[in-house]
Amino acid sequence: MVIKKQEEVAKNIRKMSKIIILASGTGSNANKIIQHFENNNVEISLIATNNKNAGVITIANENKIPTFFINRENFESDFLENLKNINPDLIVLAGFLWKIPVKIINTFNNKIINIHPSLLPKFGGKGMYGHFVHESVYNSKEKESGITIHYVNENYDEGQIIKQFKVDISSNDTPIDIESKVRKLEIEYFAKTIEEILKNK
Ligand code: GRF
Repeated sequence: MVIKKQEEVAKNIRKMSKIIILASGTGSNANKIIQHFENNNVEISLIATNNKNAGVITIANENKIPTFFINRENFESDFLENLKNINPDLIVLAGFLWKIPVKIINTFNNKIINIHPSLLPKFGGKGMYGHFVHESVYNSKEKESGITIHYVNENYDEGQIIKQFKVDISSNDTPIDIESKVRKLEIEYFAKTIEEILKNK
């Protein structure tokens, strides 16, 4: 009986995962991730941002998740130390606009993922974020767009693709319509994909 209990505890510890979220914006993706893992064996250990006005800070506070403010000086020092102390299973970029320093990428090899609001390799790279992406998709008269969830390497939006989800664009869709279709995909699939990645780790 006692042995069985110990086994159960060990199983639970193995399953317990820690995530850190980095976000610069409103935090709708971060919010969905928090909700998705609410009754799960996954802890959102930290939410870090480089933007003092980011909506994601309110979301973190409401959910009693510790926050960290990243600036150019502490990114590779204090912040990296925090990451090492927490030792997360996954670092999730959910609308984080700064490039991740190579030192952090090397320390957390294959543990940093990003969501990009287009079907990479199309419409990625420096300066391709938010409405710029959707306007470019619109101007190129694309028939479809979507999201790409990918590992992060030293180049913007070039890491190995994990999963993509697509949506059709009709000829009368505006850039705002395209954005809203893509955002629906983000809310539907990002957290589920994170769960799959954690299960396979
Ligand atoms: C999303 O469109 C995401 O794909 C992109 O940045 C945006 C973040 O939005 N990388 P939010 O802050 O999660 O609302």
